[in-house]
Amino acid sequence: MPQNTLTITDNRTGKNYELPIEHGTIRAMDLRQIQVDDDDFGLMSYDPAFSNTASTRSTITFVDGDKGILRYRGYPIEQLAESSSFLEVAYLILQGELPSRTELEAWSEEIIHHTFLHENIKTLMEAFRYDAHPMGMFISTVAALSTFYPEAPDIFNLESRTYQIKRLIAKVPTIAAFSFRHSRGLPYVYPDNDLSFTGNFLSMMFKMSEARYKVSPALERALDVLFILHADHEQNCSTNTMRSIGSSHPDPYSALAGAAAALYGPLHGGANEAVLRMLGAIGSVKNVPGFIDRVKAGGNRLMGFGHRVYKNYDPRARIIKQVADEVFAVTGRNPLLDIALELEKIALEDDYFVSRKLYPNVDFYSGIIYQAMAIPTTMFPVLFAIARTVGWLAQWQELLSDPEQRIARPRQVYLGQGQRDYVSIDRRRS
Ligand code: CMC
Repeated sequence: MPQNTLTITDNRTGKNYELPIEHGTIRAMDLRQIQVDDDDFGLMSYDPAFSNTASTRSTITFVDGDKGILRYRGYPIEQLAESSSFLEVAYLILQGELPSRTELEAWSEEIIHHTFLHENIKTLMEAFRYDAHPMGMFISTVAALSTFYPEAPDIFNLESRTYQIKRLIAKVPTIAAFSFRHSRGLPYVYPDNDLSFTGNFLSMMFKMSEARYKVSPALERALDVLFILHADHEQNCSTNTMRSIGSSHPDPYSALAGAAAALYGPLHGGANEAVLRMLGAIGSVKNVPGFIDRVKAGGNRLMGFGHRVYKNYDPRARIIKQVADEVFAVTGRNPLLDIALELEKIALEDDYFVSRKLYPNVDFYSGIIYQAMAIPTTMFPVLFAIARTVGWLAQWQELLSDPEQRIARPRQVYLGQGQRDYVSIDRRRS
């Protein structure tokens, strides 16, 4: 009968240790008993960037990178993208189960009810420079929301916490759209609560002088699917930030602003913006082979390719390619698509990419779709943040209800100087 344990022999001392294995993991703290002598701190694991460290147990999102599987609460992403809506998926991710019809109606009604921003928030946003990056405005405004809700730090009060969660999901599209309007010098458009979550967002983005914005059903659905695909992705960089900040128990607005800042980087939520810049710089299909050579020589990264977890294919990329066709049927074909298709074709046959298991990720095509919808590149990470707000909040809730979690505090391996005496400035090297 195989034992669910790991036997370790410490060759420094000849001692044996037996560590329990649970859910395919050993507890890092179990290593601490492995000491050379009584003064030894004990063995630690060294894992920069957490490549092989589970920081939590979670029941929200399942990813199998080798098989290309993504599931929210057990439901395959393909089925959710096909049949569900973003608000329904948000309910599922936060509550753990799909809502009944009545529950979904009540949930949607509540979210819609919270879409308006306090007028002071609007004034605050107006104070940004005319050319402020919308993501900088988004991050700052979400952080500022905490000052409007003094009850928000009461995070262990379930009623208050639930309230803040609904407010955040409802208000992030409004903040996002106001950021965009600001960068265009256009008046902010207030929410239209008779529209769907995504329909209202499109209205706040693009409404001009017409009495009511006419939402294209195809674009509304495409955006809803993109939001579903981005709603959660287990312990990625920004979610880890949400949990890390959340572990010191601030209000959710402050924690979510930090998570959004982590998302902003070009290796994470900024990747689709970087993809478009890359496609623009390549300029035409004939330049693709030369660009691939530069990537292989280490001069560039092929943005939108590669993933820390998916080493076979990113299931979201497949769905997004279908969405692209539906969007282009309405908007016309984005000329950058041909460059993207050529890049993908060459890269998927090239040994450099094949041997490193580099495949198109979710962001390879999402930017091209957004651009076809007349959404500027600076807004891409903001759109990602609207969707991921749901995942961040679900993960934050899970953290707060997990008795094993404490304030996040990794260890380090110190390799700096040993103790040395202070040298006065006139005795230092010139
Ligand atoms: N283009 C060219 N080479 C690459 C790329 C790329 N996009 N990604 C990885 N490599 C190479 C890398 O140089 C390394 O090669 P070598 O072994 O010769 O040194 C090898 O592949 C392994 O790379 P890594 O940096 O160890 O991989 P990682 O798991 O740390 O990085 C990643 C994952 C997503 C940061 C990286 O693939 C990347 O920078 N991709 C481009 C940015 C991007 O598209 N990001 C969006 C990720 S999906 C959305 C999200 O989750 O936020």
